Amino acid sequence: MPSHFIMKNFTGRDRELEVLGNIHSEAKSGDAAGIFLSGRSGIGKTELLRQVFYHYFSRQNNAVPFFYTVRTSLTSLEHFSKDYFCSFIVQSLAFLKKDISMIEACVYSFEDVMELAKESGVRWIIDIADDYEQARKSSDPLNLFLSTILAPYRSYLLTGVPVIVLLDDFHKMKKFCEINAVGDNRDFWMLFETPVKSGHTPHIFSGNQAELNRMFFEDTLFGEYLELFNLSGLARDDAAKYFKALCETYGLDVRIELSDFIDLFGGSPYYIRNFAQAARQSSGALSEDNFWLVYLSELTKGKTFKYWLSLLKTHVPRFNQRKPSLGFLYQLCKKAPDAALPGLADEMSVSREEMEQSIELFRESGIVETGFSTFEVADDSIMVDIIKGLYLKEVGLEPWSRIKETLTGDKRVHAKPEPPSFTLNIPATSKAEFVAVKTIEYIALNFNIPSGITGQLQIAFADLFGNVIDGPGRGIENYFLKFQLRENIFYAEITIPYVNIVLTDADRTRLRAYLDGLTSESVAEGTKITLLKEISADSVGAGSL
Ligand SMILES: Nc1ncnc2c1ncn2[C@@H]1O[C@H](COP(=O)(O)OP(=O)(O)O)[C@@H](O)[C@H]1O
Ligand SMILES: [Mg+2]
Repeated sequence: MPSHFIMKNFTGRDRELEVLGNIHSEAKSGDAAGIFLSGRSGIGKTELLRQVFYHYFSRQNNAVPFFYTVRTSLTSLEHFSKDYFCSFIVQSLAFLKKDISMIEACVYSFEDVMELAKESGVRWIIDIADDYEQARKSSDPLNLFLSTILAPYRSYLLTGVPVIVLLDDFHKMKKFCEINAVGDNRDFWMLFETPVKSGHTPHIFSGNQAELNRMFFEDTLFGEYLELFNLSGLARDDAAKYFKALCETYGLDVRIELSDFIDLFGGSPYYIRNFAQAARQSSGALSEDNFWLVYLSELTKGKTFKYWLSLLKTHVPRFNQRKPSLGFLYQLCKKAPDAALPGLADEMSVSREEMEQSIELFRESGIVETGFSTFEVADDSIMVDIIKGLYLKEVGLEPWSRIKETLTGDKRVHAKPEPPSFTLNIPATSKAEFVAVKTIEYIALNFNIPSGITGQLQIAFADLFGNVIDGPGRGIENYFLKFQLRENIFYAEITIPYVNIVLTDADRTRLRAYLDGLTSESVAEGTKITLLKEISADSVGAGSL
């Protein structure tokens, strides 16, 4: 049976393995610090810990490796203690026998493990099992917990061989400790301080970055004992190598230079793997067109999309809060990093409290990162694209072609030249409405837009000028108009200089009755409102020319 510690396409991480794979010498002299392995979700923390485990397991005898993942399903202190303790005994025995299959061969019951320990004939394992039985008899759950997490240290005391403890998903300890709070003590995960401080049993903690940051540095001062090790994305060459290896494994017929596309994934092996798997399922060779099709599909309905969607859902559980939160995220994705909170709150017509709540929720999910007084979206272009796509679809109600354009338009390596456009300035008088409506007629004719579509655009324009913009009232002198036909969408843009115009829900509903899409954004020049009409491919040319 293949071990989950042996990964076929594991790539790169030489430096990380070098550092984490050499702490046993410091552990020997009692100088090893605990380590907080932080890094964004999907960047490869768990896999790195597995590789570190395997490295210690297969290459040396100077330190015993112990890998443990805190599981959500742990229900009580006793349950955790048993699970942690049993894993430690089984892994220690496997290490002594150099038989990795023992670890995954089957699920051992507590009784099995105690029996294995006693029959092993290994003195220190028998002693540790005896200690554990004693602690169980004390029926003091905290005492049992403490003696459990001290088992690796106890083994060091008995053998003189350090233990490297690799603790993944450690943030789950917090929930677990809250549920099982003993009296007022909710932070008893902090008891890990004792084995960590020994210096002979270094612990490497990993898991959800935002939650661990909070546990180690905000809720407690546990971080004082830890060295910070931040895992970033795979180096560019390694990322491309991994991408190629996966394509080969999946038998994909690759017709593009993969390294031209690799920057899209920000070095995240999780994104690369999801993409390669999606490409395998789509038919045909991986040509450039196909690449973008897969990219779009992966970001709007594939596994990567589902991953972020479920995260968003968990962090914004209230249904009626979802649209405002998504709107907030969308704005953040477009703004400069130090967007001012009050301004943003006004723009979105939500209260400042609501906005602060959203920021906190998104911070916990790793979508938003906060400084001391600033906040910004995490530097993850795939996540940003997913948020944009979701917003345009669900809030902006944009047509698919526009979503496609937004997500892939400016990324294409061999981007198509910009199609021609008409631009003009018109004076912002009370007659502007008529001028604009007339202008559309001429321009639409030029683009071969069917007259029915032109008529609807004209109604929307008249409404916009008559009821929303009110340029003369605002002291505006000119409007700037731009018209363009791109991928079967006719775009009519109006830029109103110097002012910030916010469309109300009522405005949107009214205008959308005549349109296929409507966006309003504040730009450097003022406010840009774009009206969209979809032109079906066969109706172009059927115009009145
Ligand atoms: N160095 C690597 N080479 C190849 N694949 C990797 C590497 N690191 C991680 N992966 C794969 O990427 C995915 C995400 O990695 P994981 O370790 O679970 O991320 P994290 O724990 O940081 O969320 C997993 O499928 C994993 O097997
Ligand atoms: Mg992980």
